[in-house]
Amino acid sequence: MTSSEIRQQFLDFFASKGHKIVPSAPVVPQGDPTLLFTNAGMNQFKDVFLGIGTRDYKRAADTQKCIRVSGKHNDLEEVGHDTYHHTFFEMLGNWSFGDYYKREAIQWAWELLTEVWKLPKERLWATVFRTDDEAYNLWKEVTDINPDHILRFDEKDNFWEMGETGPCGPCSEIHINLSDDYNNPKWVNAGKPECIEIWNLVFIQYNRDENGKLHELPSKHVDTGMGFERITAVLQGKKSNYDTDIFTPIINSIEKLSGLKYDYNLPAEDKSINGLNNVAMRVIADHIRTLTFAIADGATPSNDGRGYVLRRILRRAARYGRKLNLKEPFLYKLVDVVANQFINVFPEVKENQSKIEKVIKAEEESFNITLDRGIELFENLIDKLKKKNEKVIPGNEVFKLYDTYGFPVDLTNVMARENGFTIDENGFNKLMEEQKQRARKSTKEKLSSVNIIINSTDDFQISSNNPTEFTGYDELKTNATIIGIKNENEKSFIILDKSPFYVESGGQVSDTGNITINDTHLPVINLTKINNQIIHITENESNIKLSVGDKVIATVDEKRRWDIMRNHSATHFLHKALREILGTHVQQSGSYVGPDRLRFDFSHFQKLTESELEAIESLINEKLRENLPLIHYRNIPFDEAKNMGALMFFGDKYGDKVNVVQFGNYTMEFCGGTHVKNSSQIGLLKIISESSIASGIRRIEAVTGAGVEKFIKELESKIIKNEELYEKVLDEKKKLEKELSELKLKEKLTLIDTIIKNPNDVNGIKIYKGKVIAENMDELKSMGDELRNKIKSGIGLLISEIDKKVGIVCVVSDDLIKDKKFSAGKIVGEVAKIIGGGGGGRPHLATAGGKEINKINDALNSIEKIISQI
Ligand code: SER
Repeated sequence: MTSSEIRQQFLDFFASKGHKIVPSAPVVPQGDPTLLFTNAGMNQFKDVFLGIGTRDYKRAADTQKCIRVSGKHNDLEEVGHDTYHHTFFEMLGNWSFGDYYKREAIQWAWELLTEVWKLPKERLWATVFRTDDEAYNLWKEVTDINPDHILRFDEKDNFWEMGETGPCGPCSEIHINLSDDYNNPKWVNAGKPECIEIWNLVFIQYNRDENGKLHELPSKHVDTGMGFERITAVLQGKKSNYDTDIFTPIINSIEKLSGLKYDYNLPAEDKSINGLNNVAMRVIADHIRTLTFAIADGATPSNDGRGYVLRRILRRAARYGRKLNLKEPFLYKLVDVVANQFINVFPEVKENQSKIEKVIKAEEESFNITLDRGIELFENLIDKLKKKNEKVIPGNEVFKLYDTYGFPVDLTNVMARENGFTIDENGFNKLMEEQKQRARKSTKEKLSSVNIIINSTDDFQISSNNPTEFTGYDELKTNATIIGIKNENEKSFIILDKSPFYVESGGQVSDTGNITINDTHLPVINLTKINNQIIHITENESNIKLSVGDKVIATVDEKRRWDIMRNHSATHFLHKALREILGTHVQQSGSYVGPDRLRFDFSHFQKLTESELEAIESLINEKLRENLPLIHYRNIPFDEAKNMGALMFFGDKYGDKVNVVQFGNYTMEFCGGTHVKNSSQIGLLKIISESSIASGIRRIEAVTGAGVEKFIKELESKIIKNEELYEKVLDEKKKLEKELSELKLKEKLTLIDTIIKNPNDVNGIKIYKGKVIAENMDELKSMGDELRNKIKSGIGLLISEIDKKVGIVCVVSDDLIKDKKFSAGKIVGEVAKIIGGGGGGRPHLATAGGKEINKINDALNSIEKIISQI
């Protein structure tokens, strides 16, 4: 049975049970900020489950494209190393929206598996949620499963949730044990390839809210999901999903590209060279599907969110490619086989094939550059460590290579060993874990949209009223002591004696980061300042009791802060350049400095011209490249700062003591913000918009550093889109031109037919002549040929104006060449004289050219005389 037949049988089965067959939703979810990618068939019905949406059917079934690479359902690490996890897979599913429930769901699943597909009952196992007696009893009642094969499991295995929030409920899974020991319950949920879950029947009855609380839904629903690749492997009698016809076409292509063979006889855990090659091929075969489907549905690799996940997948695949000696971009060449495989099920892939290939190829090329740069950085690092006689690469350096430069850790590991080094894995893992926590918290942060306002610290436990010392100009990590605290509802409000956290001011947004106490990280979700004390509002999910006097480490999110500093310093350059190019009437009237971009509002009375904007941008970038150092005056008297000539920046509140920020001898402003150490750390500045916000006030938005990189990438993908459009239009044009020239040709041939119908007679010789329209001599010649083919006996003469000159073709039929010694070459020579030219050729066909257009009729009229004189 082919995989296509299996898919169809599933859909047909549920159609016969009154289900509407619906299309798969895109893998890029529409309008659900809680999801990066569609991770289950039920996603498109979330609104129905929550009671906020309806459909005009109560039962549905489909095959859903799913990607599981992030968030709650994330299988990325396993992929390639085993035979049955995938980043992209199809989920066959059937749903009831407040219609049938556990009984039918169980009964029909059993019927399809054992009656339609005839799976051996003795190998099937059912699991239910530990307290779900109803499902437990139904398995006994409505199926003939061996009652000993019904097992109870807890939340981890039998309570299904879409994500941190959303619809959820107890579930009942069906597993198949393909080992010889299939009667042994130990195999179920043991993570063994011989015994895998094939179908999950979820009984949706709750919604989990942002605080983790479960709420009973208005109706009860069924949501089932069966792994299409897994069931195909089972039904095709294969040990591995990769041995089915879903994957073998892709593996065949990888074999061709690499010149290596996939060894279908080896188990997944084999560590021989061939076994490792198998892993690499499985990774690539899996990942190319994810990339292809995600890009077809509108995602693109980039630096954040969904795009970043895709980028990592692509890089993982490219790296495994290197293990197969595929060093040049190759992934894009596999898109074709995927597109063709799914042409009937998911035609969107074929439709977008050329875009997908271009995006993947560009990304592969840029990754190769990343690798080269990483290798260079690695070598510098090794040199440095060798000089210090060290033999271990510190965890933070490995992390930096990975996090900042995108250099893969396993490569660092291999290269370290080659140089006689090891890497500090523990140190690295710790930093990775911290990063994961940050990522988890930051999604949570966005979802719960924290909006906590504090106006006083009256209800705090306080040990000192001293202002918090701000250390964030010099460091991003500070050991500090709690001098004020309030613990409340999984949040802690912490006042420290010292803190590197910048609190929003002068347009610069607040920092984010962590406060760490005894190895527990409390994410800082907001900051405020009361009486010069910085209040850190932190998540404290486990309600750790913090007290005054506790020692903590306050750590600012470094990458984000650097992006902010780049943008802040850049506003000073922008201010200065505007004044230089537009004039000193330019005064700042507001600004926003975030990690993503900067916004600068200023007084000016006209729209800036293209050339002004260009001049401003060039001037700034030239200055940035000059590597101007930061000179930071802190806490100097206001008057002194003014006398130095510092410009005042809007929005800062100035006390007696102020800070002044100077870069080289170029800019000097009053400013309390945080800044880069020299101008070249800003990288590049790109103005992205210029507009008016009020009469006499203009606004410029710009990006710097990584923001510019992102901007270029977006531009690139727009160009790719335009190119595609251009290619389409070009194809259309070619098609129309072809149609036009065919039409013209038809018209010309009709003219020849008319000529053939009206010959003149000279001494029994038929003369066929006429004026025609030909584009060039070749065409005129073919018209001559055409005429000659159509006449039995006679002489033909066609004349056309071509490019303001005259072209002539003369043809003579075979009988006249032999018997009467007529020669087209000679005749055409005579005719050509009349139009002031010459020509010749063979006896049966000859051409000539001349200049005198007004003599065309004379030439046509001369033929009879010429013939009669031969
Ligand atoms: N939503 C469940 C799952 O993804 C069943 O479709 O497993």
